[in-house]
Amino acid sequence: MDRLTNEKIISDVKENNDIVAVISEYVNLKQRGRSFLGLCPFHSEKTPSFTVSREKQLFYCFGCGAGGDVLSFIMRIENLTFGPALRLLAERANIKLPELQLSPTGQKQKEERERLYRLNAFAAEFYQKILWETKTGEKAVAYLEARGITRAAAEKFGLGYAPPQWRALVGLLRKKGVALDEAEKAGLVCGGAEGFYDRFRDRLLFPITDPRGQIIGFGGRLLGDGQPKYLNSPETLIYRKNRSLYGLSAAREGIRRQGRVIVVEGYMDVIQAHQQGVDEVVASSGTALTPEQVRLLKRYSDKVFIAYDADAAGEAATIRGLDLLAAAGAEVKVVRLPAGEDPDSLLKKEGAAGFRRYVAESVDLFTFKLAYILENEDVTTPAGKARAAKRVFPILAQVKNEIIREAYLKQTAAAVGISETSIYDQWRIYWYNLRKNKQRLDIKNSQRHTIDITPAHQRQAVALAGEKELLQLERLLLRGCLQEKDFFARIKRTLIEFKFSVPLYESLRQQLMEWDLSGQWPPPASAFPPETRALYVELLAENKMNPLPVDLEGCLKRLRQRQLTDEIRRLQQEVAVSLDEQAEGASPSSLQANLALLNELHKKLREEFPTFSGLT
Ligand code: UTP
Ligand code: MN
Repeated sequence: MDRLTNEKIISDVKENNDIVAVISEYVNLKQRGRSFLGLCPFHSEKTPSFTVSREKQLFYCFGCGAGGDVLSFIMRIENLTFGPALRLLAERANIKLPELQLSPTGQKQKEERERLYRLNAFAAEFYQKILWETKTGEKAVAYLEARGITRAAAEKFGLGYAPPQWRALVGLLRKKGVALDEAEKAGLVCGGAEGFYDRFRDRLLFPITDPRGQIIGFGGRLLGDGQPKYLNSPETLIYRKNRSLYGLSAAREGIRRQGRVIVVEGYMDVIQAHQQGVDEVVASSGTALTPEQVRLLKRYSDKVFIAYDADAAGEAATIRGLDLLAAAGAEVKVVRLPAGEDPDSLLKKEGAAGFRRYVAESVDLFTFKLAYILENEDVTTPAGKARAAKRVFPILAQVKNEIIREAYLKQTAAAVGISETSIYDQWRIYWYNLRKNKQRLDIKNSQRHTIDITPAHQRQAVALAGEKELLQLERLLLRGCLQEKDFFARIKRTLIEFKFSVPLYESLRQQLMEWDLSGQWPPPASAFPPETRALYVELLAENKMNPLPVDLEGCLKRLRQRQLTDEIRRLQQEVAVSLDEQAEGASPSSLQANLALLNELHKKLREEFPTFSGLT
């Protein structure tokens, strides 16, 4: 099927799905003049700023900037990619869809992905064989036994054992005629031109899967003590650490049945839980929840229980992840485990029923934070009471619902041991000052010439996730280019050498570079393949319904600075890791190359941004 047929199907589907009707299934819309108005489903707000135009068949939120056509709406609200979103709308309109054809680049990427999946599956099978069927594997089998993991559970999760040799997998792949640079792209082997060797050696291997159960990477645990305890696959075309949740494919059914998901920290916690029949459990794999993981979780359940060990639960990074989750509209509960226990150890001691009791006694996020503060302040003294109250207020200030806030104030008064009137008085003073400071800040911001057009509540989210700023800048740059041909023409040369960090933005940039500027601007949507078209339409809609003054050069400069500093941070991390690996005898030449590169980047940064001091 050719591009034109695709085009026709897409427009058929759109014509048969009136945007007002579709969005009404998700948002309560009221007609206001020629357009429809409702509360934005993409951020939380009390007064409606979410607009839908039947004439233009577009939506736009003046609060958070989300916008697009009916397809982009579905992609966003259902968290789907273009193809599945189209399918959903086609079904809604009773349109039969032939298999959609991908663009040549999309097709190539898809094939590459599939090669990586196959390689991972092949490696997993190899490692399983070593574990269960060889003498080499015996010590790993013994380790599993000592950790109280049954063979059935280990098999369900596809565990394997990577033998200690440097070239066990490499040798096998060679024999099978598999291209080793392909295996390197899958993160299974390292070394490149200098001689390939296995990434995982003498480790118990946990295959990491996507929600469909395809293996995207591995985590490998040392059988004894040592560093690093776990070695994970590097980021690859199919594995992004901060997007994956360990055990999700096995937990999907349990999550649906139980109507909730329990998030633990580690691989072992997940396997022990599933083994004992607590099967709505996934792991965030050691990091605080990322925005991507939050989005993924929300797709499966709105009720999220966090069962981290006591230390990790109180960490600032963990709390930020939980705040993100709550901000995304999930009901967040924190399970309080006894000190020194993690779900794995607790399940072994007290069984599934015991663990579920702790889950049943979980507390909401506020109660958890309050308890944490109280543990760290001595509230038997007046000064301690005052300090505790002062630490609670910023948390209360984030609670938008006044009824809930009042309940929390009472709870705080009781817990700290002060009267309700006195806590109300103090709260009012705090609130008043907060408002005054905020107004001052808002005025200052509006006076400054700035390209930051994000509303206040979004700015807060940006501060939370530095990544988001990059995303906003790149988006803004694209919007500017589309808004005025002159803008685009002016910076086109600079843009040629530029690489966006968001893959989809990057594809769109490349496609824009190919468009003949003597023709129509912005190009028609049909000039783009389905993968980028939804984004393209969304950007056009944003421009049309909310045009903006863009300081493109400033935007470019900030992006350039961000990219330099990000690259420096990434390299620093890599250097840190290879320093670790030194001990295991990894090649020192890549380390040297990285150090040289770091030097160069630092120099560039100093030259291009002499006044910048954000990197320490
Ligand atoms: P833990 O240190 O709690 O390990 O890290 P664990 O899963 O309980 O393993 P056992 O019980 O000691 O065998 C929690 C998670 O953090 C990630 C892993 O995903 C791990 O499961 N992690 C930890 C790493 O990625 N690398 C590390 O070096 C350590
Ligand atoms: Mn553990």
